[in-house]
Amino acid sequence: MTGDAVASADAPIGLVLAAGLGKRMRSDLLKVLHPVGGRPMVVRVLAALRDAGLGRAVVVSGHQADALRSTVAVWAAAVDPMEVLWAHQAEQRGTGHAVAQGLAAVPRAGSVLVMAGDAPLVEPGELRSLWSQHAASGAAATLLTARLADPAGYGRILRDDAGRARAIVEERDASPEQRRIDEVFTLVACFDAAPLHGALARCAPANAQAEVYLTDVIALFAADGLPVDTRIAADADAVLGINDRRALARAEARLRARTLERLMDVGVTVLDPQTTYVDDDCTLETDTVLHPLTIVQGGCRVGPRCVLGPGAHLRASVLAADVRVWHSVVEGSRVGEGCRIGPFSHLRPGTELGAAVEVGNFAELKNARLGAGSKQHHHSYLGDAELGERVNVGAGVITVNYDGARKHRTRVGDGAFLGCNANLVAPLDVGAEAFVAAGSTLTDAVPSGALGIARARQVNKPGWTARRRAGPPAGPP
Ligand code: UD1
Ligand code: CA
Repeated sequence: MTGDAVASADAPIGLVLAAGLGKRMRSDLLKVLHPVGGRPMVVRVLAALRDAGLGRAVVVSGHQADALRSTVAVWAAAVDPMEVLWAHQAEQRGTGHAVAQGLAAVPRAGSVLVMAGDAPLVEPGELRSLWSQHAASGAAATLLTARLADPAGYGRILRDDAGRARAIVEERDASPEQRRIDEVFTLVACFDAAPLHGALARCAPANAQAEVYLTDVIALFAADGLPVDTRIAADADAVLGINDRRALARAEARLRARTLERLMDVGVTVLDPQTTYVDDDCTLETDTVLHPLTIVQGGCRVGPRCVLGPGAHLRASVLAADVRVWHSVVEGSRVGEGCRIGPFSHLRPGTELGAAVEVGNFAELKNARLGAGSKQHHHSYLGDAELGERVNVGAGVITVNYDGARKHRTRVGDGAFLGCNANLVAPLDVGAEAFVAAGSTLTDAVPSGALGIARARQVNKPGWTARRRAGPPAGPP
């Protein structure tokens, strides 16, 4: 998705059909709200229309209209700056009826690009080619069609002797002979609004499903002598709607492959595409290498020469150049150049690492900043903390940031050394170049350059073991 498309003044208005529940999905969730590649289908459709240069689109809602509207609102940024208008189809009386509801919000003078909300893989270039062809040819309708090895289930394109499209017949209403036609309607089409409006008013629900079919207007256009043009989709699979969970899984796989191929084209190595998952809103730079079982989601930005995985899960994070992450989870974090993360670390939201920071085995960070060159190697937790540069965090160091009611901050100056198993009870300040003795539970600040030690002094009892073995009563040790 480009996100920076400029709407063309002569572009049609989009008309997205999203009223049907999608029974074949067998879901409580509206079909077009199912995510593909992390984004609801209808959001992908709207973004594709935006990227094709459309400035406005009408969405026809029906089932779960409130959920549909609020989801589109949540994802407004993905569709921006396209204006989204709404129409409502209270009863799902067919695709033609749905389009008629949407047309009420559209000026009669221009053209509309009608498409189903369940085709999330459609490429903006395909939509742009369709409407450019429609504008240039002067046709009253331009249908996007597809040739399929197995056309079962789709509406078939009927042509006259001169090869002009004269009608679309739905599978259920088709004769055995018509069912052998391999060219199908994609439910993506451009129409001049005025004749479409007129034709829909004349469509009757006289078919197997007793619905008003959008597809019936083509025969009416042909009868009225209005020119109908067609365009064969470059990629049939990308434009045909998703009707069930099998198609949903296929779409997911396809989008994933497409995204990985785009990454390879900009110089990212993907060692095992079968087990690598990257959302298409993420950017990765040249010579970054993805090892198996790597997942990159939620708009991550990854710099050049990073090595991710095996087993890296990144979400909504920014990584500078030359970062290594393996067997770890990184969420909502910013990671500086040359950092090493893992194995088995968890960077939670609000983590910021300066350059060349090392976060090692079993480390957890939340809302924590580590300055350049700091090291947190073993079994430790830093929450609500600000650590300077070159700080050494010993094994088992814990910031005690939560008192049961409120969170408190810990600050550690440059070059400080935090000994193993220290508890830093926040709010707490440890000065630059200070030392914290291993095993300390600190509740008071440690000044710069000082040693902070907060634990009981060791006592040795000579000969104690032999006395104990000699038998009772050993008494308390
Ligand atoms: C439709 C086409 C078919 C085409 C196929 C391509 C019709 C009659 N058939 O069939 O020619 O080959 O798409 O995928 O147009 N919707 C509404 N209101 C309604 C009915 C449907 O908004 O009353 C919406 C649905 O939510 C969905 C879209 O229209 O997003 C398509 O409906 P669907 O039932 O999936 O049509 P298909 O049977 O796939
Ligand atoms: Ca469909």
